[in-house]
Amino acid sequence: MSSKLCLVTGLQWGDEGKGAIVDFLADDGEVVVRFQGGHNAGHTLIINGEKTVLHLIPSGILRKQVECIISGGVVISLPDLQKEIDQLKQSNVSFDDRLYISLNCPIILSTHKALDLAREKAKGKNAIGTTGRGIGPAYEDKIGRRAIKLSDTFDDGKLLVKLEELMDWHNFQLRDYFKSETFDVSREFDAILNYAEPLKTRFVDTNQRLLKHINDGKKVLFEGAQGSMLDIDLGSYPYVTSSNTTIAGLLSSTGLNPKIINDVVGILKAYTTRVGGGPFPSELNDDIGAFLAKKGAEFGSTTGRARRCGWLDLVPIKAAVMANAVNHLCLTKIDVLDGMDEIKICTGYRLHGEIIDYAPTHSDVYMYCEPIYESFLGWSESTVGLTEYDQLPDNAKAYVDFIESYLSVQVSMVSTGPEREAVIVKNNPFK
Ligand code: GDP
Ligand code: IMO
Ligand code: MG
Repeated sequence: MSSKLCLVTGLQWGDEGKGAIVDFLADDGEVVVRFQGGHNAGHTLIINGEKTVLHLIPSGILRKQVECIISGGVVISLPDLQKEIDQLKQSNVSFDDRLYISLNCPIILSTHKALDLAREKAKGKNAIGTTGRGIGPAYEDKIGRRAIKLSDTFDDGKLLVKLEELMDWHNFQLRDYFKSETFDVSREFDAILNYAEPLKTRFVDTNQRLLKHINDGKKVLFEGAQGSMLDIDLGSYPYVTSSNTTIAGLLSSTGLNPKIINDVVGILKAYTTRVGGGPFPSELNDDIGAFLAKKGAEFGSTTGRARRCGWLDLVPIKAAVMANAVNHLCLTKIDVLDGMDEIKICTGYRLHGEIIDYAPTHSDVYMYCEPIYESFLGWSESTVGLTEYDQLPDNAKAYVDFIESYLSVQVSMVSTGPEREAVIVKNNPFK
């Protein structure tokens, strides 16, 4: 039997509905892998009205037959991982042989979180608007080759030496530069060991485990976190997260090669949202933006912050389709557009008299460009919960057709509500 490997990735600034689609597709899956980011992610699953928000645990956990893997590119906060496991266990989710975490994952320390918050505070109105989870500082230490990894929890002596050295550097910055509180090394050491102890049987070489599953012909989904516009290299730098959110992050995290990935589902919301600071050319600071925010319930799943809303912007999405080798599109939240008279899509930017129709890689362009729009007629019918493409109003179909032709990629799925079953599948990418 041959394996099937499918990546599900966000093409915007996150919160496209990745979790819900991974959960939907996982009906037919055997393994779901998270490969980058950390508990800055918030992936919402709604099943029979019951809401589950996942931050670190892959969105396959509510499908009993699925094994969940967190590969080495993910940064792990042990207390937050434990909290999430405990919450799911309270809802009777079984973890027996169902969750494995890479020995290669860097550990997020208390000082990483403190540094994240201190830096943001010092930046004032220029703050990135991070989730305050210590993600950036943890990745800095990984790149700086001084990270403490889950593998270090198996050797107390080595762990203490590394921790002393790293926290000394963190405390120096906290105390002498930010004039803020420092952290006690022995307390952090004890906390790491206490949290790691019951989880140790799950800390394995996930790359080898994954490869065995692939050789056994299993069906594997890869779950992206954040979105292409938050990618550290391709996104709207510096208003980005600190990992490669694209397929590049999958490959470096798992040791797989690009040729082995069969399909890539790019998820795009029918409009655009963004949490935190940074440029957003198609942002709507008006009644329409407020309508989208309210109807789409656009509040962050991790921090509860209000998400900024605007028209769909296909310019950066075109570059994200290229970067990720997207061969299926999944359009989410089309139901939120029900009842609008006119809907717009941004198809280019005007800057200093020139027209730009391919995503620029530096933020200043986004900051100063003027969006160019195509206009579409809205529809008055409700699309909530539809599961057949033919049931969509003609004007909604015209909207979908335009996206398909602009991006030259098939729209294989259209999501019509937050519930697990509210999805139109034209061509299942995972069958
Ligand atoms: P993720 O981070 O990409 O997994 O997305 P989030 O879970 O942070 O945000 C997506 C939000 O939209 C969640 O509240 C979902 O329940 C909700 N959602 C997902 N798909 C749809 C849809 O098709 N229609 C509506 N109305 N809501 C959706
Ligand atoms: P999911 O997986 C939306 C944003 C933050 C901030 C920037 C940097 O749910 O789509 P960080 O804490 O990562 O250093 O913050 O990135 N951000 C997200 N925005 N969805 C996410 O995840 C995000 N994860 C980080 O708001 O602007
Ligand atoms: Mg989210």
